[in-house]
Amino acid sequence: MAETKAKKTVRMADQYDDPKYNYQDYWAGREYEHAAEEIAIKRLLRGRKFEHAVDVGGGYGRLSKLLTKYAQKVTLAEPSQQQLDIAKIYLKDTSKVEQKLLQAADLKMKNGSIDLVLVVRVLHHLPNPKPEFTEIARVLKPGGTFILEFANDAHFLNRVRYAVKGKKVPKMPVDIRSKANIKAGEIPFVNHHPKTIVKMLQDAGFEVEAVLSGSNLRSPTLKRIFGKNILINLEKVLQPMFASLYFGPSVWLRLRKK
Ligand SMILES: C[S@@+](CC[C@H](N)C(=O)[O-])C[C@H]1O[C@@H](n2cnc3c(N)ncnc32)[C@H](O)[C@@H]1O
Repeated sequence: MAETKAKKTVRMADQYDDPKYNYQDYWAGREYEHAAEEIAIKRLLRGRKFEHAVDVGGGYGRLSKLLTKYAQKVTLAEPSQQQLDIAKIYLKDTSKVEQKLLQAADLKMKNGSIDLVLVVRVLHHLPNPKPEFTEIARVLKPGGTFILEFANDAHFLNRVRYAVKGKKVPKMPVDIRSKANIKAGEIPFVNHHPKTIVKMLQDAGFEVEAVLSGSNLRSPTLKRIFGKNILINLEKVLQPMFASLYFGPSVWLRLRKK
């Protein structure tokens, strides 16, 4: 696709620019979740080296730091100026990361100029991520790597919940905002069905190389009983073991641009 045609939907990330909301604070007390994500990324990238990685919708750069271990250069591409302002402090000792105000559907990078893209916790704001997948496929080199994490509507507990009601897990994105938040104009917040996302990725020119099941033990009760260290060690074992079942609330994919 021609680079100049990449002007697509403009999607905002308003809440991340709200001075009353600090996304960095969300991570206080979520050491298990953060560790689970780093474990997945390390497993999916083990033994690989890249020239230029882009952390799309990377927020304040929580995971851009980890990407510097795998890539010579990292770009944090993020549409929220507030997140980029926090990133300036968070990444002050990480010289390899450049920060750019960008939407995922319009990355303003040359065709085939990137060899690694990471997208984590962004898809829940994109009910239809087709333009974003097309744009990521455009900027990636043939053979380039795309690591994608998204919230899984078909996780094990949800499948049980739907089955109890005699229903199937919907293939369409499921809006999980409260009525009050919808009324207040909160940006979209959806969970996706893995099969729908995989099909969309294939249509955009990707093939799935690896799947992991993520945050399998995300539960305040389990945290209280076992403590985070035990949960993190179990998580390491469960991510590949439960992958084919799409068990956990988070799905990880390593994709290859064809
Ligand atoms: C939950 S945060 C995740 C941040 C980071 N990936 C992480 O895991 O820490 C969601 C991020 O997605 C960004 N975002 C929302 N809509 C976006 C879009 N259309 N393109 C790129 N990023 C977007 C938000 O600004 C926010 O930083």
